[in-house]
Amino acid sequence: MADPFLEREGLSSLLAEVAAAAQRYVADLDDRPAGGDAMRDQAAGRFGGELPEQGEGALQTIHRLLTDGVEAAVNSAGPRFFHFVTGGATPAALAADWLASVLDNNAGLWVSSPLGSRLEQVAITWLKALFQLPSDWSGVLTTGATMSNFTALAAARQWWGEQHALDVGARGLSGLPAVPVVSSGFIHASARKALSMLGIGHSTVEVLAGDAGGRIDLPGLEHRLEALDGAPAIVIATAGEVNAGGFDPIEAMAELAHRYHAWLHVDGAFGLFARLSPAVADLAAGVELADSVIADGHKWLNVPYDCGFAFVRDGRLLSSVFGMGAPYFPATHAERPDFLYLGPEMSRRARGLAVWATLAAYGRAGYRTMVERHLALAARLGRQIRESSDFELLAEPRLNVVCFRHRPQGISESELDELNRRLGAAIIADGRVYFGTTLYAGKVAFRPAISNWRTTERDIDTILSVTRELAERLLAKKSGR
Ligand SMILES: Cc1ncc(COP(=O)(O)O)c(C=O)c1O
Repeated sequence: MADPFLEREGLSSLLAEVAAAAQRYVADLDDRPAGGDAMRDQAAGRFGGELPEQGEGALQTIHRLLTDGVEAAVNSAGPRFFHFVTGGATPAALAADWLASVLDNNAGLWVSSPLGSRLEQVAITWLKALFQLPSDWSGVLTTGATMSNFTALAAARQWWGEQHALDVGARGLSGLPAVPVVSSGFIHASARKALSMLGIGHSTVEVLAGDAGGRIDLPGLEHRLEALDGAPAIVIATAGEVNAGGFDPIEAMAELAHRYHAWLHVDGAFGLFARLSPAVADLAAGVELADSVIADGHKWLNVPYDCGFAFVRDGRLLSSVFGMGAPYFPATHAERPDFLYLGPEMSRRARGLAVWATLAAYGRAGYRTMVERHLALAARLGRQIRESSDFELLAEPRLNVVCFRHRPQGISESELDELNRRLGAAIIADGRVYFGTTLYAGKVAFRPAISNWRTTERDIDTILSVTRELAERLLAKKSGR
C-alpha cells in the first residue's frame, strides 16, 4: 500500500529527479513549440479512470506527469506563447515560487507565516513604488486580476453602501437600490464576473463606448453621472484593453468621478505596467487619482500563476468587507500584518515570495528595460504588418498587444472573417507560435500579446512567417492545389 509516511526516505531523490527534468525543460524552452506537442490533447485524455483504491506511489505518479503530463502541456512559459496576455516566470520568481511550495507556509496570518506576511508587505510597498501609487494606499496579493477586481470592487460596494448609511459587508444589499455601475466598451469579462459575485450583477453595467474600439464616451459619462443627481455610483475604467491595448482616459474619468460623487476603479491587469516607461506612461496617467486599481502578477511581472494585486485608497473598506475575525485568530498589529483581513482568502499561498524575489532581483530598472523591450517588439511587428501587402493592422500598437488580420489580395471583405477564423484554428493546431482570434470593431482579428521576459526579435518574426505559411496552405487547399 502506498502511504506518504512510508515515502519519506524517497522524497529527496524524487525532488532531484523533478529538478533534473525541470532543468532539461527550461534549457530548451526557447526552442520548444509554443503550443506544445502536436498530440497534446490526446496526451491530456490519457489521464482519467477511477479513483485508485491503492495508489501507485509518488515515483510512478510523478513519472506520468513528466511524460504524459509534459506532453499535454502547452509551453506557455516560453517566448512564442502570445495567446491571452501570458507572462513567463523570471528565474528569480520561479525559484522563489518553488521555495514557497517547499516551505508550504500559510500567508493568511503573521503567526502562520512571518516570512509570507512580511514579504507580502514589502512586495505591496515596492509595487506601489513601481507603479507610482500613493504610499498610504492599502494593497493585497490575490490569485489574479479577476480576484483583484473582486477585492477592489468589494471595497467600492462597501463605500457605496456607506453613502446609503449601510454596512453592506455586515448587512448585505437587501433593501438598497441597484448599484449604478458605468464603464466603457473596454470592460473586461473579469470585472463583470466580479460584479456578479458581489451581488451587483454583471449585466447591469451601463456601457458607454465613444468609438468602435470601445473607449469611454466622456460626454456620455458626464451626462450619466450628472443625471444621478448626487447619488453615488461606481465607474470602471480600463488601462490596457485585451484586444488592442487601448486605454480609457483615466485622468478625465477621475475628475468626473470626483465631481459627481462616484468611485473610480481602474482595471490595469497588464496596462498598469505602462507606468514603468516614460515612453508610454501618459497612457495610464491619473491612476493615482482613482479609488482603486488592480494589476496581474502572472502577466507582465512574470511571476508564476497565480498572482494578482489589488490596491485601494481607503484600506479601512477592505477591512470592513474582509476583516472577519475568529476566536482562534490572534490579535493583529500594524507592523505584523495579517493579510487574510484584507482579501477574500483565509488560508493563502505565500505569493509574496515570488513577487518580492523578482523585484529584489531585477529592480525598477530591470522591469523598465523588459517593458521597453516588449514595446519595441510590438512596434517591430506593427511595422512588419504595415509594410506587408497581405496583413492589415486594425489598431496602432501603443503597448504590447498587436491587433491585425490577414487580408490577402483578391479576397472580398465578406470572406475575411471566415478566413481569419480558420487561420486562427490552424495557428493553434500548428503550435509553433500561439495566439488566438477575437472580434475587434466587428472584425475577426488576431491579438498576439508580448509579455514574456524571454521573447526576442527572432520570436516576433515567426508570427508573420508562420501565419503566412499556414494561410497559403489554407488557400491552396481551398483552390484544390
Ligand atoms: C484587462 C484585464 N482584466 C482582467 C483580466 C483577468 O485576469 P486574470 O485571468 O488574471 O484573472 C485580464 C486578463 O487578460 C485582462 O486583460
